[in-house]
Parts: sequence; C-alpha cells; structure tokens
Amino acid sequence: MVKTSSPGKLMLFGDHSVVHGRPCIVTAVDYRMNASLSERRDDIIVLNAPDMNIENYVSSIKDLEKPQPKQARFVLTSVRNFFDKYGIRSGLDIETKSEFRVEYGLGSSSAVTASVLKGLSELFDVRMSNKDLFDLSYKTILDIQEVGSGFDAAATIYGGSLYFVTGGRVIEPIKAKELPIIVGHTGVKADTSKMVKMVYQRLAEEPERINRNFDESAKIVDRARRGIEEGNWKEVGMLMDQNQVLLREIGVSSDVLENLITAAKKAGAYGAKLAGAGGGDCMISIADKKNYENVKNAIEDAGGKFIDVKLNADGVRIEK
Ligand code: MEV
Repeated sequence: MVKTSSPGKLMLFGDHSVVHGRPCIVTAVDYRMNASLSERRDDIIVLNAPDMNIENYVSSIKDLEKPQPKQARFVLTSVRNFFDKYGIRSGLDIETKSEFRVEYGLGSSSAVTASVLKGLSELFDVRMSNKDLFDLSYKTILDIQEVGSGFDAAATIYGGSLYFVTGGRVIEPIKAKELPIIVGHTGVKADTSKMVKMVYQRLAEEPERINRNFDESAKIVDRARRGIEEGNWKEVGMLMDQNQVLLREIGVSSDVLENLITAAKKAGAYGAKLAGAGGGDCMISIADKKNYENVKNAIEDAGGKFIDVKLNADGVRIEK
C-alpha cells in the first residue's frame, strides 16, 4: 500500500488576473489531504472517501470514461488520466481522508488530485517530476472544471510559497518564512467556476478596462513578492488593500467579505483582501504581533470564522 498527502492552498495576490496570463502569489497551508492506494487483482476501482460521503463506490476501468458522481470525479479522472498517459491498467483500492473541510475553499480538489497521482506514480514505479505531476494534475482539473489557472495544483505539489504564472509557465519558490497572515472564513461557499466565468464575461464586454485592471494586478504581485521576501508587512498590507480595490472593480467581492475586511482593518491590520474566487470562502489580512489577536477577534466578532493555518507547508509527499 502507498500513502501520500498534499497540502491545501491560499491565494495571497493576483486572484482572477492569474487566469488571464498574469502572475499570482500562492502559499501552501498545513491542512493535508491524505490518500492510500493499493492494487487489486480484478479490474475495478473501489473508492472510499468518508469526508465526501463516499463508501465503497465501484467503477470499472472502462467506466472511467463515463460521467462520475461529483464527489468521486477528481479521484477517478486522475486515475483515468494516469492510466491513459502511461498505458497502465489495474484494479485499485483508494481511500482519501481530509484534514480540512471542502467548504473552506482551501483547495481540496487539487490536493486530492495531487495525492492520487503521486500515489499512482509510486505504486506503478513511474518516475514523475513535480512538473510532470503538475501538468497531469492541471489537465485533470481542467477536464472537470473547464477553467482555472492551475495555481492550486502548483501549490499542493511544490509546497511553500510560489510566484506562479497561468498554466505553470512560471513556478518559482518565494522565500516567505513567517508570514503573519490571519485568515477568516465567511461561512459562504464560493462557486469558483461561476466566478471565473463571470470575469471572462466582463472581460469580453469591457476588454480595455478589465485588461488594465489585470495589468495593475500583475504590478502589485511583483511588488508583493519583494515585500514578502523582505518581510515588509506594512508594504504587503498596503498591497493587499490595492489588490482588493482591483477585485472589487471586477465585481468579485461581496458584502460578507467586505464586512470582515473592514473589521480586520479597523482592528489594526496593515491590509486585507479576499482570497480566491470571491463571493465567499476566505479573506486574509496581515498584522504585526501586537495586533494579531485584535484582528483575529475582530474577524470573529464580525461573524467570520478564524481559520488557524500554518503557511509554507510541504508539498505532496509519500507518507510512511
Ligand atoms: C480561485 O481560488 C482563484 C482564481 O484565480 C481561479 C484560478 O486561478 O484558477 C479565481
């Protein structure tokens, strides 16, 4: 049996514009998605994913081509793509177990994809570099979601904090040791595909304005990268605020996000913004040590849920 695990992710800068050829900054978070895989002698794939309410779901290898139930899709599409790419066919037992909740929007789909692909490469002794894993994970995610930059796949595979450009054109580690980021969850589940498609629509309607917005976002990402590497949290906070203005302008913020962002800022955060697709999921803020608790409490008082995450987590790995 092979066991693997992969971290979740948190988008720090460049949300949405990264879908359109610009860079972003993403960090891996220490909630992990675990998978265990073993070969079977027959030709069926048996999936157990208790967090997704999946118990002994059975698919034959040839049924991998057919539409799968939503909760099983990332696992089974990963298996199909791996089999197709490497000409392998085998029955499998797969179990996944998550340390984090799907509702947080911390990247459980890309984490499960990476964990399964890494497990398959180990099980069948296929050498895959991180870039090979990324390319197959990204293909799997696009097969299912149709849209997306792939930043989540990069974060869960490489780990740490990354400077990332659409589709993995650039994937560079950033030295970001003690990022004092405070994460608040809105309690609302964001529909990422819907938000991304809405921004495509806006881009088609007003290409000049939206492209200008994305170009500004790219500049903020480059400055934020320097700020993070230098540990200049005041600058990073100011850039969060500027990024949030751009996200508001493309219409992806929401009252509940704005509420938590305002509360964090009033409590002394250097800056705050939504993190990810918008419309719900998480916001992030940054504060120095003396204001950290204040900001955390203010987010909770405003109705958010403080999520205690460690950043810069290790990427996908084999577990003993
Ligand atoms: C969603 O978490 C982040 C987006 O930038 C989409 C993507 O990059 O795939 C909105």
